[in-house]
Amino acid sequence: MANMLNLGILASGRGSNFQAIIDEIEAGSLPAAIKLLIVDNAGAYAVERAKKHAIDYLYLDPKASPTKDAYFSAMALELKKRGVELVVLAGFMRIVRKPLLDAFPNSILNIHPALLPSFPGLHGQEQAVRHGVRISGCTVHFVDGGMDTGPIIIQAAVPVSPADTEDELSERILKMEHRIYPEAIRLYAEGRLHVADGAVEISGYEMHDSYIVNPPLGNRK
Ligand code: GAR
Repeated sequence: MANMLNLGILASGRGSNFQAIIDEIEAGSLPAAIKLLIVDNAGAYAVERAKKHAIDYLYLDPKASPTKDAYFSAMALELKKRGVELVVLAGFMRIVRKPLLDAFPNSILNIHPALLPSFPGLHGQEQAVRHGVRISGCTVHFVDGGMDTGPIIIQAAVPVSPADTEDELSERILKMEHRIYPEAIRLYAEGRLHVADGAVEISGYEMHDSYIVNPPLGNRK
């Protein structure tokens, strides 16, 4: 396929978003190649997925770097070495530091399980349940050095029932994560994302295409 986008994935755990990206690439619906998976946690299940799909992976131990900046410099080096063009955070639980941001300007994406700017940080789904919101969802955005901040690309909304547990809401949101993350990467690969004044314009996209609303909860009384 022409113009394959070279991806580097960063993960800390389960890696189901990583898997969703692998699946779309293997199905031929995402013109990209995963050049490297980097994990910051030796036990991350994402590594098993990389092995299964013959994807190059690397465990970078944060404790082995003298500073946080040095850690992210080492990471940038490994990604550049393999020709990575877009860095994709897939459940990567660290704040990205300047050396990586500088190496990949407007070329790092993150997904978060809430409708940002609401509920950044850990346990976005639990925060949503605790606040009794009626709608939550997930957000794909460019990474800018803050915690779950940066220009928003796509959001998907799901309903929240007052009876939901954190796990139930997480599962409902995760299904949408697996849809919007590959879609955002596809838009990037097609050169259709433009950042201006802290917001993203998507060329050839109608406004209503850049959000998805899940079907309602159903006939709950
Ligand atoms: C996902 O729900 C992702 O949105 C979240 O971690 C989970 C990782 O799942 N990320 C954050 O909370 C970032 N602040 P996965 O490892 O199965 O993709």
